[in-house]
Amino acid sequence: MTEKNTVPRHVAVIMDGNGRWAQKRGLSRINGHIEGAKNVPAVAEYLFSAGVGIVTLYAFSEENFSRPAGEVNGIFERILRFAAEYPSACKGRVRLFFSGDLEGVGEELRLACLAAEEKTRQYAPYALNVLVNYGGRSEILRAARMLSGKEVTAESFRS
Ligand code: FPP
Repeated sequence: MTEKNTVPRHVAVIMDGNGRWAQKRGLSRINGHIEGAKNVPAVAEYLFSAGVGIVTLYAFSEENFSRPAGEVNGIFERILRFAAEYPSACKGRVRLFFSGDLEGVGEELRLACLAAEEKTRQYAPYALNVLVNYGGRSEILRAARMLSGKEVTAESFRS
């Protein structure tokens, strides 16, 4: 009998619980984000070594903009640092993709994300997607805009 490969090809991670983790330890929420961000390379490495090919991180939703400015800036700083450092750290094996509305996250972070994508364009065999400023409603709106001129039906989203 052939053994079935039960390792998923793609694993998506919702980066939740940072605030609670920090508060339980008497730390500020931003410390939770800092520690969460530090763990990203190790978590990705673990998944890749287990046979997962694609990892997606839900890092920052459009709803997260309702958080205090200091917390939002702190999260952006971690994503910026990750975009700057990970392309060298991943030793040519992990292609980075940043998805979401990058127009809305400030020029510095947007450019850092694009530069990281560019730098890792030829990297293989793994892929790491980081979702920044993502949201269901805006995704649908964006898709509808792309299809503008055409009739938008449920079928439009299936192809
Ligand atoms: C949710 O935790 C987490 C976030 C809103 C931000 C997560 C993103 C980062 C830490 C940035 C780093 C990302 C990369 C790719 C390096 P929460 O504050 O809602 O926690 P809680 O549920 O305990 O309140």
